[in-house]
Amino acid sequence: MTDTTTLSPAPPLPRSSAPPIRPRRLRASAGLRAMVRETQLDAADFIYPLFVRHGAGVRQPIASMPGIYQLSVDEAVREAETAVSLGVPAVILFGLPAEKDPVGRENFAPDGIVQQAIRAIKTAVPDLVVITDVCLCEYTDHGHCGLVSPAGAILNDPTLDILAQVAISHAAAGADVVAPSGMMDGMVAAIRAGLDGAGFSGIPIMSYAVKYASAFYGPFREAADGAPKFGDRKTHQMDPGNGREALREAALDAAEGADFLMVKPALPYLDIIRRLRERFPELPLAAYNVSGEYAMIKAAAANGWLDEQRVVLEALTGIKRAGADLIITYHALDAARWLD
Ligand code: PBG
Repeated sequence: MTDTTTLSPAPPLPRSSAPPIRPRRLRASAGLRAMVRETQLDAADFIYPLFVRHGAGVRQPIASMPGIYQLSVDEAVREAETAVSLGVPAVILFGLPAEKDPVGRENFAPDGIVQQAIRAIKTAVPDLVVITDVCLCEYTDHGHCGLVSPAGAILNDPTLDILAQVAISHAAAGADVVAPSGMMDGMVAAIRAGLDGAGFSGIPIMSYAVKYASAFYGPFREAADGAPKFGDRKTHQMDPGNGREALREAALDAAEGADFLMVKPALPYLDIIRRLRERFPELPLAAYNVSGEYAMIKAAAANGWLDEQRVVLEALTGIKRAGADLIITYHALDAARWLD
């Protein structure tokens, strides 16, 4: 009999039933985690919304949006300067007019509140990208996003001419980008034709292409005083159950010449952000982390129920991971500070 143990060149390797593949290896230290992190949030991803109103030295708090104010133009300039100093590249402006009427005349007045704010911000911080919201709801006495028939219907086509006029007047005041948010059919084409005809062919359109009829806009309607006086927005904003329809809306806006697409709100619609990212890889995609999403986190944090900083950065990371290039968010300045 041969003793095989004496013939073997080396003792057998210890065998283990432990898992050979261990994802935890790459989580062992902060250095390793940072090396393999797939999504990096950056202040350069953010667009900060500003609500501008008439007056001087006004910072009117918005109860449901702690930290956000209705600002007079001088105060809006200060916020814009802060944004730039923190590396936030853009603001989006919403205006509160002195007076409302059925058409919303101040919306396209050369000395309207948004036009004044554009000029003041572009003078003080020329490198900041100034985007303007183009819609009727904050300016009309009925609070709807379009002209309204005597029977109370929102009239699509007559509204398009007004939207084009508003966009032209924002461009004339110096806006860098216009962002139509009213979900009227054909709004991107009408605004493109209007801008081009008025000599503003270089001004891009960021279309709120996929905007849902969402209850998450509640606090904004206080902030911008734009709640409809009767009815709702369900005949033009999308039904929350629809995903395929979002692709149809986005395809139309892309065909009409939109330079950016947007999904709004963000957190309840991450699947829609992902589907647009995949279907329209060539267009920059923005997501609007809306007022209600902000209010929820602020309320829970104020109660000590959530760690605000961690929750905000996690939520914004999720929006970016879903596929957004840009995030319009009321957390922009705080998040930029935390990331610094
Ligand atoms: C319409 C507009 C709205 C928001 C942005 N643009 C309100 C609406 O459609 O009712 C909502 C933004 C938010 O909730 O933060 N001009």
